[in-house]
Amino acid sequence: MLIAGNWKMNLNSSDLFEFQKLIVNEKIEKKVEIAIFPQFPQLQLAKQILSKYNVKIGAQSCSSQLSGAFTGDVSADAISDIGCDYCIVGHSERREFHNETNEFVKNSASLLLSQNITPIICVGESLNIKLQNRTQKFIHNQIKECIPDIVSSSLIIAYEPLWAIGTGRIPKNEEIMSVHNVIFNELSHVKNLKIIYGGSVNLSNCSNVLKLKNVHGALIGGSSLKFKDFLAIYKTAVKQVI
Ligand code: PGA
Repeated sequence: MLIAGNWKMNLNSSDLFEFQKLIVNEKIEKKVEIAIFPQFPQLQLAKQILSKYNVKIGAQSCSSQLSGAFTGDVSADAISDIGCDYCIVGHSERREFHNETNEFVKNSASLLLSQNITPIICVGESLNIKLQNRTQKFIHNQIKECIPDIVSSSLIIAYEPLWAIGTGRIPKNEEIMSVHNVIFNELSHVKNLKIIYGGSVNLSNCSNVLKLKNVHGALIGGSSLKFKDFLAIYKTAVKQVI
């Protein structure tokens, strides 16, 4: 199980120290990982002050190119230099505001795997697609186009319906399970596969989501900024598996 906090374009170094103050008193279990995804400039500090408490660190995006003249982009190599464990790729906000395509996602994920960083590949349907009952087909296609040809190590897929991100709306249990099953069946050849859910996960709905079959954790935006809530969600996850 993985409880991952996507801080997006929020918080700064002093917040990292606040998070550290709280995490010092937590017991981080082996069976449930906790990870945070701060902005790039905070990654190094996050690694320095949090990895000793078994908090995993991840980046929020990665270039699809190895290196070169790509001003403002960050390479898998640079992310690996910091010692990141994870990197989110293809988040819907990257797809929408930075035109990241399935092909881009596939290339980034391949580069991350070559650096032994576990990619968290985001997939999810828009409200329009959901209303047309095309969710399963759409996710099937996204998976096919985003997954690197060779997955030698671990891989995480985050199912994040676009209409559930930051809206307070969350799919029905059956809807989450059916999409997770599509992903699971499509990627049955991947040895270390986790499928996590993201989109308006909070303290009140997390136990309901985390108990579902083939749900191996959560990618949490808004509620990860409230550290006490985030840690309480972590404890809920621990209760589910121990
Ligand atoms: P949310 O964001 O928890 O605020 O809905 C999730 C995400 O975008 O990863």
